[in-house]
Amino acid sequence: MNFQSLKIDHYTIIVPDAKAVCQFHIQALGFKYLRLQMINAGSAKPGKYDMLNYILTWPNDPDRVLVITEGLTQESIFQRYLNQYGQGIHHIAIQVDDIEKAFEDMQKQHIQLTSDELIRDPLTGLKQCFIDRSYLGVFVELIERGNSVFQSEAQKPGFFTKDNMSGLAVTMHDYLRDKRLKDHADSLNSSQELIQETSLKNYEDFHITETDYLKLSTLRCFYIFSKALNNSVEFAKNILGFQKLVQENQSKREVILTLTKDPEHYLVLQEDQEASLKPSLSRVFAETNDPKEVQKQLQAHNIDFTPVDMKQSAFGLESALALNEKAVGYPFYLMKNSVTQESKRHG
Ligand SMILES: [Fe+2]
Repeated sequence: MNFQSLKIDHYTIIVPDAKAVCQFHIQALGFKYLRLQMINAGSAKPGKYDMLNYILTWPNDPDRVLVITEGLTQESIFQRYLNQYGQGIHHIAIQVDDIEKAFEDMQKQHIQLTSDELIRDPLTGLKQCFIDRSYLGVFVELIERGNSVFQSEAQKPGFFTKDNMSGLAVTMHDYLRDKRLKDHADSLNSSQELIQETSLKNYEDFHITETDYLKLSTLRCFYIFSKALNNSVEFAKNILGFQKLVQENQSKREVILTLTKDPEHYLVLQEDQEASLKPSLSRVFAETNDPKEVQKQLQAHNIDFTPVDMKQSAFGLESALALNEKAVGYPFYLMKNSVTQESKRHG
C-alpha cells in the first residue's frame, strides 16, 4: 500500500424524506447544520434539481460530516437506488493522503471501482473515488482534500462541489442494472410520488432549535454486514490500511478494525450471507455518558427504542439501545461511553 488512510471523513445516507431526517439529527442527536446543497445530476430540467444533500457535522465533532441525500425525481439515480435497496447508509468515506496512488494501487489489483477515473475538482483539488460495495458491505469512498494553501476550501470538513456530488450519481448508474437484485427490488416500496417542481425554500425553511436532548458524546463506530467476512477483513487491512483491534468474536463472526491515525473510531464487520441484498442494514453506534437519562428523554419525546443484548458482541458491552429506524433514517444504536476502551483492555 503506497498511500495512507487518515480518518473517517463522512458518511452518506439515502432517505425518502431528508428534511425530517435532518431535523431529527439536529434536535435529538446533536448534529449541527452546515448547509444544504441542491444538485442537478442529470434527470431534472435545466435550472431544476433532482438531488439534495443536507450536510451536518457530527455531535461534538465539527471535523466530520453526515450527508443526507434525497432524490427529487423518480428518474434521479438516488430515488432509483432507494427504490431498489431501501433507505440507509450508502457509503462511508475515508480521507487518504494520496488518492492518485490509492487509485493506481487499486487498479493494479483489479479492485472494482465505480468509475475508471478519479472524480476531480480542478479548482479546489478535491478528489474522490468509490469502491464497489462487494468488498466491505457498503460503498467506500476515498477522498483527498488536498494540502496546498490555494486549496484551503477543499480541506474544510463537509466541503463538496456540485460536480463531486453529481460525479457520484453518474458512476452509480451501473448498480441499477443488476438483474439478480430485481426480485428484491420489487418487494421494496417504490410508491413515492413524483416531485414536479422543487422549491429550494421548502427544504431550507425550517427553524430548528438545537435542543440536542439526547446529549450524545460522539459517534464511535460503523457496524457493517459482510457477505464474506474474511475477504472483507483482508480488504480493510491490505487495501485500506485498517488494523484488527481485538480478537475476533468467533461465535458471531465479528471483527473490530481501526485506523492508526484515527484510533477512536471503528469499523465492526459481521458476517451475514444475505448482506449483499440488504446493504441498508449498516448501523452507526454513538456513545452516551448517561444511558438512563437518554431513555428518559426518548420516552419524553415519544421516540421508540429497543434495548439490544450485546453480551455476545466483540465490543464486550452489556447492552445498547436501537432507536426507531424510521426517525433516524438508518439503524442507529446508542451505547454507554468508554466501552470500546474496555474492550481494548480485555482484547
Ligand atoms: Fe461522499
